[in-house]
Amino acid sequence: MRPQDIIAKKRDGGELTADEIAAFIDGVCDDSWADYQVSALVMAMFIRGLSEAEGEHLVRSMLYSGEVLDFSDIDAPKADKHSTGGVGDKTSLIIAPLVASCGVAVPMISGRGLGHTGGTLDKLESIPGYNVKLSTDEFRGLIKRCGFAMSGQTADIAPADRKLYALRDATATVPYIPLIVASIMSKKLAEGIDALVLDVKTGSGAFMPKLDDSLTLAEALVRTGQNFGVRAEAVITDMSQPLGRFVGNALEVYECIRILKGEADDSWADTRELSLELSARLLVLAGVSVNVEDARGLADSKLTDGAAFEKFRENVQCQGGDPSVCDDPEKLFDPAIEKFDVLADAEGYVTAIDTLAIGNAVCEIGGGRTKADDSVDHAVGYESLSRLGDNVANGSPLGILHCRTLEKADSIAVRVKNAYTIGEVRPSGTPLIRQIVSPSTDGSD
Ligand code: URA
Repeated sequence: MRPQDIIAKKRDGGELTADEIAAFIDGVCDDSWADYQVSALVMAMFIRGLSEAEGEHLVRSMLYSGEVLDFSDIDAPKADKHSTGGVGDKTSLIIAPLVASCGVAVPMISGRGLGHTGGTLDKLESIPGYNVKLSTDEFRGLIKRCGFAMSGQTADIAPADRKLYALRDATATVPYIPLIVASIMSKKLAEGIDALVLDVKTGSGAFMPKLDDSLTLAEALVRTGQNFGVRAEAVITDMSQPLGRFVGNALEVYECIRILKGEADDSWADTRELSLELSARLLVLAGVSVNVEDARGLADSKLTDGAAFEKFRENVQCQGGDPSVCDDPEKLFDPAIEKFDVLADAEGYVTAIDTLAIGNAVCEIGGGRTKADDSVDHAVGYESLSRLGDNVANGSPLGILHCRTLEKADSIAVRVKNAYTIGEVRPSGTPLIRQIVSPSTDGSD
């Protein structure tokens, strides 16, 4: 099958067969398709659209473009969580040990931060020594020993996605739901899991800010999970302000360890709440609990009695990290970091927050990357002190920038301050959990 014939068929609005899509993905992987041909077909898909069947062929071809892990020798349900990404979105570090402490095996393959959203691997690497580059054998061994492992994607997992994603990024073809679904689900299904909970963010810091788009994406992800035999549920969650108190790699690990240690603080109550909700849904999907209420009780007890914390500590040790940061999380703070207050310039209620602008500010002071091969400064970040609906006084701190030098702090602080809208009327609250998309309500079963 010649690439140009497949491209022409989609260019003219035709529906591609499973064999044509498989030929395309083979061509991506063995480099027999030139980048311009891959990009041309992706653009034709973007403009002409993909049918439900084409979307499914694409997921299948991308999934089997590499290794599909098989953990059938592990006698426990296997489950994972995926988030579409946000600002201060750190729940994986709590959910993996929490769910593992309830008897579920968690093969968590995570990514690095890109743009305004953070990545679990960067957060973990702020723990001295922590190794996120595990071979498949090491990954398997750790899941058996410790109940969960957190690692980056090896070259063998869904290799087609790595190349396709880079070309989509460079050709403005990322924001098309069937392509996003194929990209996310080919990687997640390759983990060999039985159950998957998807945290689909909505609001100003989400990759898809509009609720309708988040809902369409959530439904497509859940349907794809079902079609491939994985019990999947999506939770659409609010990203119209940073999650919890801290944004930035080491700062977020600090917040998670404090939560795992049971150290309550109102400023990170939403991080704890979302971690519990997603864990509970995962426990039901994995068959450990019969309903969400029971599952929440179980998950809460494992957070409160320290079992989830002990599991996290064990994992840090097993993955080569310094476990003393678990006992003394203040060690994660770099004493050389400068703090700079971001002050309100009006009195009133915080009515809106441009969360994307805060994520971009953290990225700009070194906490994130704009290109995949940029390095990150794990210690920098932002401490969010004022939340939506809070009453602030003129001159009171909205938050604190943690930066390496004060050189650019003034101009970045102005941008962060401008991310807050302050008005006279207290806004009605937006719930953290906006909507649940389960297979029975999305009409696919
Ligand atoms: N995240 C992914 O992994 N892939 C996409 O296409 C978009 C977001």
